[in-house]
Amino acid sequence: MRFFNKMCTSKARLDGKTVVITGASSGLGKETARDLYARGARVILAGINMEETNEAVEDIKNNPPSWMTKDEYKNNVGELAIYFLDLRSFKSVRDCAKNLLTNEAAIHILINNAGVLMSPSYERTEDGNETTLQVNYLGHFLLTLLLLPKMQSSSANCRIINVSSAVYIFADIDFDDINLERSYVPFRSYAQSKLAIILFTKELARRLKEANIHGINIYSLHPGLIFTGIARNSNRMFRGAAFCVCICDNICVKKLFFKNVEQGAQTTIYCSVDEKTANETGLYYSNCGVSTTYRKANNRHYAEKLWNLSCRLLHLEPEENFSTFLKTVSRQML
Ligand SMILES: NC(=O)c1ccc[n+]([C@@H]2O[C@H](COP(=O)([O-])OP(=O)(O)OC[C@H]3O[C@@H](n4cnc5c(N)ncnc54)[C@H](OP(=O)(O)O)[C@@H]3O)[C@@H](O)[C@H]2O)c1
Repeated sequence: MRFFNKMCTSKARLDGKTVVITGASSGLGKETARDLYARGARVILAGINMEETNEAVEDIKNNPPSWMTKDEYKNNVGELAIYFLDLRSFKSVRDCAKNLLTNEAAIHILINNAGVLMSPSYERTEDGNETTLQVNYLGHFLLTLLLLPKMQSSSANCRIINVSSAVYIFADIDFDDINLERSYVPFRSYAQSKLAIILFTKELARRLKEANIHGINIYSLHPGLIFTGIARNSNRMFRGAAFCVCICDNICVKKLFFKNVEQGAQTTIYCSVDEKTANETGLYYSNCGVSTTYRKANNRHYAEKLWNLSCRLLHLEPEENFSTFLKTVSRQML
């Protein structure tokens, strides 16, 4: 929203750092990639549509973020690379992780950004899960576990950023039917996946701390309301709302209630680079600051139960010792 439109003010450079962003072919992922590339990072765009992702790379190369001039951009940028990743498939997540682990010397920042919103009809992935749950949450859960050991060995200052949404507040985790086979409602599925991301963030931070693994901080966030592809590709209800916003454009309603894409990427960028956040982990952010979580997102028992259920859906044995667990996951999955 216009009234809540803070920009990330950190001038931190990321020279020598490698960043992986899922779903960076468009929207917030692409804008985040542009900003971190301008800070000198090697930015890996992991996406499903190679043509669109290549177009994104060209766009990023030719157009700096608004805070940098074209001349400065020429001399200060990092590198851009593309990897294929389809979060609807655990096999694709494993293949992408394998490629990253083989080809990249280090991974310092992982941004789990890709997402789908409200498929109008019930869809199942080849792994048997409801698509929104797998793309938004389970695929990222697996990707994170597979990349964690590499991040651990990359530097003492790594970050994982999970893009959630404020709609988590309306959600509950249906532990008896997490794939919503009996009660699929598109919005419910989206909101549940976004609550799952916040619970995962908190539980992973707790497990890392308990295992004395320091130097990997994990953040979840709400980016704001931004009119991106996710709205255009969603169901009729959301398109109806979007249409209303478009016709109200001239009377500034859009400007009042929606952020533009660059503004929408700011909280992700803030969590990725800001110096103050370097000592924070497991928290939830919006508008470039820590935000309070409510209801089910604060339930520690829920977070633990979701972790165990996620492991079962991936046919992984949740072990007590987190370091042993990570080794087992890598052995089983790679
Ligand atoms: N926009 C908002 O108002 C808003 C509000 C709250 C939270 N968010 C969250 O912000 C994140 C970014 O969304 P956005 O607004 O930037 O929307 P977007 O422009 O549609 O971006 C979503 C990205 O995810 C990718 N993606 C979709 N399915 C995928 C799959 N199976 N495997 C790999 N990548 C896949 C898309 O690739 P293709 O384009 O090739 O399909 C696209 O690059 C999402 O997690 C969303 O839930 C957005």
